[in-house]
Amino acid sequence: MMFDPDLKERVRESADIVEIIGEHVKLKRVGTSFRGPCPFHQGKDPNFSVSPTHHSYHCFVCQESGDVFSFLQKHLGFDFPMALRTVARRVGIEVPTADAHRSGPDPREPVREALAAAAEFYRWTLWEDAAGAAARDYLDSRGVDRTLADRFGIGYASGAPATRAHLSALGITDDRLVAAGLLIAAEDGGEPRLRFRRRLIFPIFDGASHPVGFGGRLIGPGEPKYLNSPESAVFTKRSLLYGYNWAKLAIRRDGRALLVEGYFDLLRLVGAGIDAVVAPMGTALTTEQAALLARHTKQVVLMYDSDGPGLKATFRAGDELLRHGLRVRVVTLPDGDDPDTFVRAHGRAALDAALDGALDLFDRKVQVLERTGWFGDLDRKRTAIDKALPTIRAARDPILRELYVARLSEVSGVPVATLLREVASAEPGASSVGASPEPVAPERARTGVRDRTAERAERAERAERAMASGRRGERRRSATDVGAGAERALVRTVLTARGTLERVAEQVDPATIRDARYRAIYEALLAAGADATMDAVAAPLAPDAIAALQAMLAEGTMEAEPAQAIADSVARLRVRALVERLAAIDRTMIVATDAEKDELLGEKTRIMAEVRALQGRGFATYGKSRRGVDH
Ligand code: CTP
Ligand code: MN
Repeated sequence: MMFDPDLKERVRESADIVEIIGEHVKLKRVGTSFRGPCPFHQGKDPNFSVSPTHHSYHCFVCQESGDVFSFLQKHLGFDFPMALRTVARRVGIEVPTADAHRSGPDPREPVREALAAAAEFYRWTLWEDAAGAAARDYLDSRGVDRTLADRFGIGYASGAPATRAHLSALGITDDRLVAAGLLIAAEDGGEPRLRFRRRLIFPIFDGASHPVGFGGRLIGPGEPKYLNSPESAVFTKRSLLYGYNWAKLAIRRDGRALLVEGYFDLLRLVGAGIDAVVAPMGTALTTEQAALLARHTKQVVLMYDSDGPGLKATFRAGDELLRHGLRVRVVTLPDGDDPDTFVRAHGRAALDAALDGALDLFDRKVQVLERTGWFGDLDRKRTAIDKALPTIRAARDPILRELYVARLSEVSGVPVATLLREVASAEPGASSVGASPEPVAPERARTGVRDRTAERAERAERAERAMASGRRGERRRSATDVGAGAERALVRTVLTARGTLERVAEQVDPATIRDARYRAIYEALLAAGADATMDAVAAPLAPDAIAALQAMLAEGTMEAEPAQAIADSVARLRVRALVERLAAIDRTMIVATDAEKDELLGEKTRIMAEVRALQGRGFATYGKSRRGVDH
């Protein structure tokens, strides 16, 4: 997507960067600029500076910097056109509507964009629009103020037709709204319906903070109370945890994760200063979700609703976490409370006390069974043991397992050896009752599963490595060589088809061209303009550049389709940059912390995908799609 650089400049200069960033970061004036906590590295101190005079921001700690557009891109997941259009709309500058066809390296990008734009619109509705009044009252009644709500990007979906009009003005077509799960196409060809209506909106992000979907809570009576985005390639509820993107670093720092059931529970805990908290979204905790937590910590504290379903969910989630080798503890809240109501009523000190009183999952289970008389009654003892066994079997840590068995023996009076046989009997991999006195068979069974996963990961990595090196090795050329060829091809095309100069100027910064001769020629072309004579172009050039220029001219005009040739060269240069970045990542990886590794791996995956897209589809296709959007 090409935009008039002039337009970009005008929008940037007219925009109130302090106001726009101020909607996401609490800023305070310090001299001529504004300071606040950095939203990029989640800093607490005011090291993030926004300068209205320079129309830019900068963090002195993590060194993130940019303008109002890059802020929206990095913070909200917008792409550049979306950022430009969003800001332009606010300052009343018209941007020519985008070509509906846009191709990006990541097929999920259009959906993410639609989600990001919708989230921003919902947020605006909640806080600025008259239609948001009832939702503001609702939030207020639940004791959530704007500062807190804004940390989560909470918004309000009124369901008004204006929603579609607004998003379509931003270039988000109905098709994309449907793909994003925001619009439901009518089966009979009638008017499509908005999925979220009269609902408070919780944007949901993946681990890399891409928007993936929404949870919506009715602000009035009705069913269902909560509605999530539909399952899609982007939104896979079973592998997402609400709050994970914000919490993962805190989870590592604290060495434990808190798991709560709902959105409001999570909000309340974060509001009380607890950051390491996540929530599954209305599902029993899945193995994927447990695995996500196990990547960052060894300890999980469950804090579910105190009612019957809450307790059931606690034990199910607890067993799942044990299967991932985690240590699980359980907080029991007073009858009728969930974390939200509890903390709201009693505050942080009471919460800390409750956390201190957390019981190991198995102890909690025994406690519940004991309190309801299961161990006192001989007839029911067998059932009680059956209820306790799955948790013991779930424990992957052998020592924890033994402790659990000892505890069960203690409360039930059944000898440890008998219990161990029971534990082993019903497990996958065990042949028959009592066959194995030691719980080894299941361990092996599970190790097998892990091995397969590891094997798959290894295979994928080998394939990726082969791809990266193979591509370079194919014609016995390094990525840099490919780039050198592309530099020459690009400059020669511009030289021989001057009409392309303006478009190339928009896409290629002279600094990308490393060969000093070709860079000089390109710069001379830019300075002299498309209509300049060859003499004028050559005038400022050094002898070696002039020689290169003559060599290229001697080859004559040859591109039947200069636009195509340019797109190819641009794509090749992009690949060069990406491959080099990959190498740099690998070097950094050696010294990176675990948290940094996660980030780097994420970046690597994205780069691999883009390289694959560029090379897999062939440059020609890439060129075509670029052309499709360029005019
Ligand atoms: N949930 C859901 N669908 C429902 C009910 C609940 O997906 N019909 C999910 C939501 O993620 C919700 C969580 O389960 O946050 C916990 O449910 P509940 O305890 O009913 O939610 P609360 O957040 O306590 O609800 P409320 O807004 O009434 O406080
Ligand atoms: Mn609840």
